[in-house]
Amino acid sequence: MARRNKIYEGKAKILYEGPEPGTYVQYFKDDATAFNAEKKATIEGKGVLNNRLSEFFMTGLTNVGVPNHFIKRLNMREQLIRQVEIIPLEVIVRNFAAGSMAKRLGMEEGTQLPRPIIEFSYKDDKLGDPLVPEEYIIAFGWATQQDMDDIVALALRVNDFLAGVMYGVGIKLVDFKIEIGRVWDNDYMRLIVADEISPDSCRLWDIETGQKLDKDVFRRDLGNLADAYTEVARRLGVLPTNVTHATKPTLIN
Ligand code: C5P
Repeated sequence: MARRNKIYEGKAKILYEGPEPGTYVQYFKDDATAFNAEKKATIEGKGVLNNRLSEFFMTGLTNVGVPNHFIKRLNMREQLIRQVEIIPLEVIVRNFAAGSMAKRLGMEEGTQLPRPIIEFSYKDDKLGDPLVPEEYIIAFGWATQQDMDDIVALALRVNDFLAGVMYGVGIKLVDFKIEIGRVWDNDYMRLIVADEISPDSCRLWDIETGQKLDKDVFRRDLGNLADAYTEVARRLGVLPTNVTHATKPTLIN
């Protein structure tokens, strides 16, 4: 392929200029980072798994009518996406207490929440993505009140879809993070789900055993991350059942 213009390089992905205006190519790296990149590793196969899993979740969202940036998968590590203007927020939805919420409130991890709770962090690596109240978001003009209403509605639809899909394969959706982007159709602005949905950005626990099948395996040194992601992909039918990470992920088309 001809040399492409790199638009942006993040911790786990690279964005390149796409083949047509209004598109990007999203490349999934094998790099894993945690604690705002204080902990780093390269995990062979992670990018391939996340490309395929994000395709699976985004395609499912399209099929239930939730707008998102995914157009098509291009190859093992790349997908074509719609160019969006990212809202500088991490939108986190929690069904059970875990991670930073459990720590902040002194709650036991796994405690069921009375209803899905949505929180927002300001996307800024230098600041460590601080939690921000909605009032800051509106006062600083990162999003309008109407945007926030739409973001909450989108986040809850993603939660219902993802929680159901994961439940169907014996996995509890504890929490997840999404990002939202703006797109314009002529003068009309819409908000759509962007970035990625993968075990890097979700907490996924086996319903029976509580085994963690997400990035906490890396954050907390609980075992082999690619094995955990392969298990999620295998249960969802994204990988054939006889594939282990030792033989490298194989795609089913
Ligand atoms: O760390 P915390 O408990 O706030 O994370 C909540 C959820 O958001 C987890 O599923 C985590 O993987 C995800 N997250 C993320 N990227 C961040 C922060 C959190 O994907 N920068």
